[in-house]
Amino acid sequence: MTGVAIIGLQWGDEGKGKISYLLSRDAEYVVRFQGGANAGHTVVLDDRELRFNMLPAGSASGAKPCIASGTVVDLSEVLEEIELLKSIGISTQPLISRNACIVLPIHKELDSMIEQIRSSEAIGTTRRGIGPAYSDKALRIGIKIEDLLDSGSLKSKIKLIEDFHKLPVGDIEEWVKLAEKFSGNICDLEIILNDELDRGKKIIFEGAQGTLLDIDQGTYPYVTSSNTTIGAVFTSCGVGPRKISEIIGVMKAYTTRVGAGVFPTELKNREGDILREKGREYGTTTGRPRRVGWLDIPLLRYSIMINSIDWIALTKLDVLGGIRKIKICIEYDINGERVEMAPPNVRTLEKAKPVYIHLDGWSALTREEWKKVAVKGWDALPENAKIYIEIIEKLLSRPIKLVSVGASAGMEVAK
Ligand code: IMP
Repeated sequence: MTGVAIIGLQWGDEGKGKISYLLSRDAEYVVRFQGGANAGHTVVLDDRELRFNMLPAGSASGAKPCIASGTVVDLSEVLEEIELLKSIGISTQPLISRNACIVLPIHKELDSMIEQIRSSEAIGTTRRGIGPAYSDKALRIGIKIEDLLDSGSLKSKIKLIEDFHKLPVGDIEEWVKLAEKFSGNICDLEIILNDELDRGKKIIFEGAQGTLLDIDQGTYPYVTSSNTTIGAVFTSCGVGPRKISEIIGVMKAYTTRVGAGVFPTELKNREGDILREKGREYGTTTGRPRRVGWLDIPLLRYSIMINSIDWIALTKLDVLGGIRKIKICIEYDINGERVEMAPPNVRTLEKAKPVYIHLDGWSALTREEWKKVAVKGWDALPENAKIYIEIIEKLLSRPIKLVSVGASAGMEVAK
């Protein structure tokens, strides 16, 4: 039984796509279990950048893509990404849980409307209709994938949504046609995943967004509308906790955030601009510039605690090359008290003043030089980069087993 979960430890964009691809290479299935087309997971193969919004990025490895019931599905994205996989020689159809709810055109409209109403307090959503799709689901007026295959009941369900929102849902003929196209793959995913795990098959559960965007555990209201943490694997896929043998946390070597909300270590200066440019910190889904800051250990400690993380994959270490002094926030000062663990409450977190340690950086390496490091392995990393990693391991009490030093698959070092 090898269920492996991949969870983002920050505010998303940690590089889960690449890690999922690497770990999916010997997996049978890879599953998206929450969120929708708000996610932007990238895999770079031979300098070709593949972007996934709806299918798990791990499917670029050839593992069978699955979409579990706790997601909100944008079928047109699914279709596009099936074509994307075809373009790299992978001909596959995703398995889609019949219980997953779909994102309707009206949800995207509502997403924009709510953001406008919020005005200066807008969340900065991806406008992919995620919040409204999940809220319709919670109101029990959501449309499930299987409803698209039953034209009789579909009409009354659409009417209910239209009556409630007092808006037309939009043209969903296209959705019905797509569902018919996928009908052979709309399935009882829960049974398949459990059976396959029982048969010893490896399954990767690919998280989207990050722990701090979790609707319960994140920095509410500046969060997404799903649970992005480990519990979502169980509730969404119908797979019990004992079937997950490994929980991997993915974190960037610094911190980023898209959209509004608290960010204790944010850099609003030139240093931040440099980091943004070097790390190409612009949203995969929306192209928006990301806010950037130093590593925040108290928040990471919280993420590790609530997800039971076993080990860490550290990404974008190369981006820090060339920075003379690197800071790490090791604790907060909250109302004059030193705190090691981020508080699970936004109002308190807003009062947190980061306490930093300063470390010597290392020289900037060219891509070619990082490539050589990746080939040679751990010992070839710059000395101060190794120290940086080892200090993080100590501060978080977890091993960092994989270090990514470039976007392409192959640009990583195992420890
Ligand atoms: P929504 O998920 O589109 O409703 O957006 C809610 C918040 O989550 C916004 O701050 C988004 O920027 C953020 N968000 C959603 N998906 C991602 C992601 O994949 N990476 C980073 N931030 C995300």
